Amino acid sequence: MTNIILLGPPGSGKGTQAKLLAERIRVPHISTGDILRAAKETELGDRASEYMNRGELVPDSILIAMIEDRLAKPDCASGCILDGYPRTIPQADALNRILSGLDLRIDLVINIDVPDDRLITRLSARRVCECGATYQLTFNPPQAKGVCDLCGGALYQRDDDTEESVQNRLLVYKRETQPLIDYYENLGLLTTIDGSGSIKEISGEIYEHVQ
Ligand code: AP5
Ligand code: MG
Repeated sequence: MTNIILLGPPGSGKGTQAKLLAERIRVPHISTGDILRAAKETELGDRASEYMNRGELVPDSILIAMIEDRLAKPDCASGCILDGYPRTIPQADALNRILSGLDLRIDLVINIDVPDDRLITRLSARRVCECGATYQLTFNPPQAKGVCDLCGGALYQRDDDTEESVQNRLLVYKRETQPLIDYYENLGLLTTIDGSGSIKEISGEIYEHVQ
């Protein structure tokens, strides 16, 4: 059983790496951002998108209930990779409580460290597909412009990848989420990796730590 948290600023590659690792070790990839985006056209989705489009965090009470519900699903019994949760100290405290109630624990927290200027470059050229695929126009482009390699769908830019929202997401990360680095360091669970190499190099390094 392996429960892993991927921690890192917006654009650090949490989603990219979580997807690769989840396929490799065969556990579910849980991205709270993806769950919130998939809730569009529901009351939750409408409420969440007001925060997300501004680059603000969605309130803890919503996220804690959401993750409690998701972790109770049977597919998490073999472990999971958390991408984008927790993002605040109250969310981390709640996660400890939820996992111990399920007789589970966090095994490893991987902090992906990338300098701000590189994050902004990555996010401004990110393109995504409804099927979940993510591209980057310079480092990881699709084969045909604007078209998903995997499903042929039309690629688009996320609503929160505007310059204004990205700047705010970075500020919010530093204020609310960066304190989790010390939090997990103190619990002896943290490993920091340099996330500025290629996608392949980083996935190799993450896999080594997981083993
Ligand atoms: P979320 O969807 O989690 O967004 P984020 O944290 O801002 O992170 P991103 O998804 O933008 O980046 P990433 O680290 O996944 O990078 P990626 O792999 O895509 O959350 C969105 C919003 O939802 C939040 O702002 C908040 O409002 C809300 N929310 C979610 N969880 C919440 C919570 N727990 N509490 C409260 N609110 C919450 O990579 C980025 C780009 O770079 C891609 O184009 C990719 O192809 C490229 N790339 C990746 N790796 C490399 C590499 N090594 N070299 C070059 N390019 C690379
Ligand atoms: Mg992501």
